[in-house]
Amino acid sequence: MPAVTPPVSHRPLDGRRVLLGVTAGIAAYKAAYVVRGLVELGADVRVVPSPSSLEFVGKATWEALSRNPVTTSVFEEVPSVAHVDLGHSADAVVVVPATADFFARARMGRADDLLSASLLMSRGPVIVAPAMHTEMWEHPATIENVAVLRERGVHVIEPAVGRLTGQDSGAGRLPDPTVIVQSVASALAREEWDRDLDGLHVVISAGGTREAIDPVRVLTNHSTGKQGVALAHAALLRGARVTLIAANVSLELPTGARIVRVNSAADLAEAVQQETSNADVLVMAAAVSDFTADSADAKVKKDESRSGLSLHLTETQDVLRTAVERRSKGSGARIIVGFAAETGDESASALEHARAKAQRKRADLLAFNDLTAFAFGSDSNHVTLLGADGGTVGECEGTKDTVAHGIWNAVVHRLAE
Ligand code: CTP
Repeated sequence: MPAVTPPVSHRPLDGRRVLLGVTAGIAAYKAAYVVRGLVELGADVRVVPSPSSLEFVGKATWEALSRNPVTTSVFEEVPSVAHVDLGHSADAVVVVPATADFFARARMGRADDLLSASLLMSRGPVIVAPAMHTEMWEHPATIENVAVLRERGVHVIEPAVGRLTGQDSGAGRLPDPTVIVQSVASALAREEWDRDLDGLHVVISAGGTREAIDPVRVLTNHSTGKQGVALAHAALLRGARVTLIAANVSLELPTGARIVRVNSAADLAEAVQQETSNADVLVMAAAVSDFTADSADAKVKKDESRSGLSLHLTETQDVLRTAVERRSKGSGARIIVGFAAETGDESASALEHARAKAQRKRADLLAFNDLTAFAFGSDSNHVTLLGADGGTVGECEGTKDTVAHGIWNAVVHRLAE
């Protein structure tokens, strides 16, 4: 197996220290996903739970996930003066979830527990992810506290809207953990080496296309768009101008990207053609239907006099291959990346199928994943990157964010060649 190229293993938060405060809300368990996401990106995370938050999630969970000891009081680790040490050494502080009480205390500059004292000691960016009932979030006191903190430069992420702890729903749900991780990563991505896509226009397709059979039914696939959305977030973080062509993606899409929503394979083909006219990189992460049906104008009814129903399917355009052909004529994106999700069969292994596909499609990079190991919709992924000759150029494994950065590292490597 050829050696993994060094850039693929580079993680954007390697060596960065993040202090993660947890306050007492039911959403405390979701902070576990934030700790995991930050650790995956290379961060050294120190969790500081408020004493009452331990009623929701215990110390052992934070120690195991962060792989670091957890201190909960200023009277622990007295010789090293925990709040001074934790606050000073943090490159960023993130509070997940932040209750209404946290906002009031942070606004006042209270210092009577380890988290608030550490917050006063830190000089790095502060990111706060609120979670509370709508009435509390919209209370004039909270509105004022949030406004004052924002004026001081604290990045308060807007809460999500949806079902809350009781029967109520509205604004106040904890923002999606991936949005929180990405906010911390953006706040820390100031250095030159992290902005290695600066000035580049990248076009990413994500999700799964739908081909109508009639006004009600569609032919589609299991793609959720998670990997494509993670690629868009990672590219924004690294300074790119991002166009995300989203085919039926129901995830929260990154603010900062230009979003083009599409439905069918034909819509997607047209959008890729248009959006890549001045693009540097095209990543085809979408699962594009290979066939389309002649859609009936009215709903097809069950008919007991016939057995079953035959559909006449015609082939769709191979968007990736078309982009490669356009490039050979001097137009479209300079670097083209495809995906191949394969299963093995009696004729060849999944990897052998992927190598043959890489040679057929002639994209600069083909990100192969073995469907027997990783299902659609999973939060983690393992990809082997293949060159246009089918040879392995690298591998990356981890959350879809980590894999996204691995793919961009390989793209940056290609751009420099
Ligand atoms: N792709 C595309 N247009 C299509 C089908 C696929 O651009 N009509 C792209 C996908 O976005 C992906 C790559 O081609 O980046 C491989 O997709 P895949 O479905 O694995 O390849 P197919 O050529 O459809 O081959 P298979 O016969 O295995 O389905």
